Amino acid sequence: MKADVQINNRGDRRAVDSAPIDRGVAIVTGGRRGIGQAICVELASAGFDIAVVDLRDDDTARETVRLVEEQGQRASLFRLDISKTSDYAAFLDGVEAGLGQVNCLVNNAGIQVSERGDLLDVSEESFDRLIDVNLRGTFFLTQAVAKRMVARADAPEDRSIVFITSANAHLVSPEKGPYCISKAGLSMASQQYALRLAEHGIGVYEIRPGLIMTDMTADVVERYTPQIENGAICAVRRWGQPHDIARGITTLVTGGMPFSTGDVYNIGGGMQIPRL
Ligand code: NAI
Repeated sequence: MKADVQINNRGDRRAVDSAPIDRGVAIVTGGRRGIGQAICVELASAGFDIAVVDLRDDDTARETVRLVEEQGQRASLFRLDISKTSDYAAFLDGVEAGLGQVNCLVNNAGIQVSERGDLLDVSEESFDRLIDVNLRGTFFLTQAVAKRMVARADAPEDRSIVFITSANAHLVSPEKGPYCISKAGLSMASQQYALRLAEHGIGVYEIRPGLIMTDMTADVVERYTPQIENGAICAVRRWGQPHDIARGITTLVTGGMPFSTGDVYNIGGGMQIPRL
């Protein structure tokens, strides 16, 4: 019997027993660390084998592979820059040859602006890199995976694609303009793919994380913690943890919301609630 994990509203985790189910292969981009690592582990605990995709192959990436294997599932690390469209075919051939057919794609890889600053000072170089990775790369990698999913004759019923955007798909942060713009565009891509793929039984979901404690947010921990603790940022007065996001995604891609597609799931402790 495998150990599953339940999380309560305070973020406490506890192990419970659950029967293993074979769900095929999930690709998790940016799976090496942070939210991506948690997604790899949670999806493995639900019965997926995992293609961990990242720019880097280091100790952290190998730890992710180990954590997946600890759940009794297979994991392989694939080095890929998701902005390099010419590398997709070889990458997907490698996933299919090494692990099998892909039933789930989680578009998690993303980058933040290298320096926060005035919109009037944003450089073309910074803008292009943000769009290349967060929007263009994610759009075309999804297209490449979706084409293979659609072409499959023996397709299982419960296939899915997840886009991790951000509260910033809607919430304007003037200091990180290109990031917000890339995530707003990705939100539209999610809805486009939902419409296009529904007839093939592929559910498409957008996850908008709020403030999650990872390396990406390390530079704003000091600034935001007091505001989180006094309730100024979100209703739930704590930082989100990577497993908060991973658990939500696992619910969606294991059939927890069967009549949902193209929907937006805010996971940010109520950060999206407009207030006076
Ligand atoms: P992170 O920076 O800790 O991890 C991102 C991973 O993606 C890294 O392992 C990195 O090497 C990989 N990556 C970056 N560019 C890549 C590329 N071109 N190709 C392949 N892999 C690449 O970030 P974190 O915090 O785990 O965020 C994950 C996703 O969640 C991102 O899309 C981010 O925009 C989004 N998000 C995060 C929030 C947070 O508060 N941490 C809030 C809202 C959204």
